[in-house]
Amino acid sequence: MKILAIETSCDETAISVVSGKGGLKKPVFKVLAHFVSSQTAIHAPYGGVVPNLANREHQRNLVPLLLEALNSKGKRQKAKLKVKIQKKLETILAREPELLEQFLKTIPTLKIPKIDAIAVTQGPGLEPALWVGINFAKALGVMWNLPIIPINHLEGHVVSSLVKLKGKNQKAKLKVKSENLKFPALALLISGGHTEIVLMKDWGKYKVIGQTRDDAVGEAFDKVARILGLPYPGGPALSKLASRWQGLSLTHPKESPCQLPRPMLNSPDFDFSFSGLKTAVLYLTQKLSSQEPLPESLKAAIAHEFQEAAIEVLATKTFRAVEKFKPRTLLIGGGVIANTALRKHFETKVKDYPEVTLLIPDQPLTTDNATMIGAAAYLRHAGAPKAKAGRASFSAQGNLILK
Ligand code: KG4
Ligand code: ZN
Repeated sequence: MKILAIETSCDETAISVVSGKGGLKKPVFKVLAHFVSSQTAIHAPYGGVVPNLANREHQRNLVPLLLEALNSKGKRQKAKLKVKIQKKLETILAREPELLEQFLKTIPTLKIPKIDAIAVTQGPGLEPALWVGINFAKALGVMWNLPIIPINHLEGHVVSSLVKLKGKNQKAKLKVKSENLKFPALALLISGGHTEIVLMKDWGKYKVIGQTRDDAVGEAFDKVARILGLPYPGGPALSKLASRWQGLSLTHPKESPCQLPRPMLNSPDFDFSFSGLKTAVLYLTQKLSSQEPLPESLKAAIAHEFQEAAIEVLATKTFRAVEKFKPRTLLIGGGVIANTALRKHFETKVKDYPEVTLLIPDQPLTTDNATMIGAAAYLRHAGAPKAKAGRASFSAQGNLILK
């Protein structure tokens, strides 16, 4: 089954073509195209994602990305479009005029691609951003008479480690090796919007057993980065600075000159809290910089200590859940698992649990992408519960939860 997957939940416009076979017993994926267009530079001056700007950029990016993903640059035919179909497209894309214009000009000139379904992120995310992808998917569905599979973005992150990318060049065809997931499984989801531990009894059967009570861990990375005056996007900048700490502090004692709390480390549940940690960083920097600006080495020490605190609470809670629920697979997904120190910590720690297989996504699949959406759609299609792959009318759901 060949799936065209679309992801526009935040500030990445992404399109992939993923083929899946083997069903739920032995799913094997092949990534035929993997394209991500990041809007980071556009949102950077605002210090965060501006929903309406994201909407506009998605409108501009989707058709060019689709052409790349289908490898159909240049191969055109004479446009033919029935009046009835055109009317439908105009209705579906009524709120995306820029996209509609490109769509009508380009899509009817393409040969109908050999795909079986279109997958699209339904939520959670920014609704003005989600709608662009959804309406694009619906319009393509009408144009090519294909079913649409709405996908929960978080389910995409959960399965992102099951797809292996080989080769860094996103334009190249990517060969794939698939990993087998054994149940029960435990998933740690760590992104800009979510921090959750999820128990998976089977494909598509989720139970959230713990989550953040305030900020998501990625959000905390971003906010702390801003406090330290680092450029947007904060998470990667902060982890880079943290990794330089030991190098910068050669003339200083090996011990970190600052200590930050580990919020909720010993609470008897699997919940998290990161907003207090962020505030602690704010007070600490205010105290340390009251006389003079913070030297680079001290900033690096704070970044390092913050990262250590975040890693310690994430790992402690997760492995406590491992002990309680005895999963056979531990999956980690979401942008924060791009963090090298965090990856290393989990890779080391899991060795204490030989019965547990740790699955971490390849770097290009940690942050938002459409390959994970295509993989999730294949698994839904292959029979996960509630898999109604139809052309159902569905809407964007900014707060969609995993269940
Ligand atoms: O999954 P994602 O791309 O989007 C959401 O669904 O939220 O995650 C983005 C988050 C941001 O908060 C970003 O700062 C964080 O992932 N992030 C990182 C790193 N790379 C991205 N956080 C820590 N260290 C990193 N290297
Ligand atoms: Zn995400």
